[in-house]
Amino acid sequence: MKKINFCAGPGIMPQSVLEKAAQAVLDFKGMGLSLLEISHRSRPFKDVLEGAQTLVKQLYGLDDAYEVLFLGGGASMQFCMVPYNLLPEKGTAAYVKTGVWADKASREARLFGEVAIVGSSEDRRYAYIPQYEASEAHAYLHITTNNTIYGTQLHDLPYDSPCPVVADMSSDIFSRPIKADQFGLIYAGAQKNMGPAGATLVIVRKDLLGKTGRKIPSMLDYSVHIANGSMFNTPPVFAIYCCYLTLQWIAERGLERIENDNRQKAALLYTEIDRNALFSGNVDAAARSLMNATFRTNIAEHHDLFRQFAAEAGCVALEGHRSVGGFRASLYNAMDLAGVSVLVDAMREFELKYG
Ligand SMILES: Cc1ncc(COP(=O)(O)O)c(C=O)c1O
Repeated sequence: MKKINFCAGPGIMPQSVLEKAAQAVLDFKGMGLSLLEISHRSRPFKDVLEGAQTLVKQLYGLDDAYEVLFLGGGASMQFCMVPYNLLPEKGTAAYVKTGVWADKASREARLFGEVAIVGSSEDRRYAYIPQYEASEAHAYLHITTNNTIYGTQLHDLPYDSPCPVVADMSSDIFSRPIKADQFGLIYAGAQKNMGPAGATLVIVRKDLLGKTGRKIPSMLDYSVHIANGSMFNTPPVFAIYCCYLTLQWIAERGLERIENDNRQKAALLYTEIDRNALFSGNVDAAARSLMNATFRTNIAEHHDLFRQFAAEAGCVALEGHRSVGGFRASLYNAMDLAGVSVLVDAMREFELKYG
């Protein structure tokens, strides 16, 4: 039986993408070769990479002021690449501390210049989105649009910021329409909403580059990757192909419908969390993430019981992050409403049995 996968990442992927990817591993486009054995510089793979880059720009309505890269190293590599490329030695970057990932990003930036924490929700274990403000004096403002571990999300994005905005969108990339042209740089590890682990999407406004006066090692220099068409070294070809297929899947639906579906799924689950006497949500209602719903059982002994109960209904990978505990249901784009309904039904039945 196909399980209903609520994993926070690597997470659920569309079934049609998995099937096409599996086929490409065996025989790519009838070439008599696997996708895994052809040159990344061959025309068939270049079509994949360029197709993925074009779809990213189309989905986010971006023009040639922006460049799209698919790099290795995960989102964590971007924690250092961003300040390496954008933060001058005597400059200050503004960071909003909304969780562990945001904190890690800011710590890396401190290796390159000054960091101002312009907002933090650490005082209440990251259960809300804090107020924050950046200024023209900041080299950039760094935000994490969705906090995968805690289950909070920025529902209001900082459009019209006085300085360029850099966003870690690892766990809500392409989950809703955004004004992408209001961002200086967007990055996201693919393994939640866009494909498998191994590829990291970077969308960068080119005019921001080359201004730090710092020498940058080639592999960490966005300009080098741009000059080489995102092929300075061998890119993660299989991960990029899966991203391409997923981007096509997203484009067929459109970001409005994707957002609408995501809202419906989240509403179904949060309504049940609030209604059911055996469960509570972890974070402030206004900050609740549409991507990662975090909750817990009100009675500690129910935790393992419910995990088992949900698993018997086919729902897996619901365990909360090890630093938070409780449960976390990740509702990425590829999760459908029927999958969430199975979880909600399991919660209702659990209440009938143990309430
Ligand atoms: C918001 C966010 N940023 C960064 C990361 C780190 O990503 P990676 O493992 O690709 O380095 C994660 C991983 O879950 C994440 O959720």
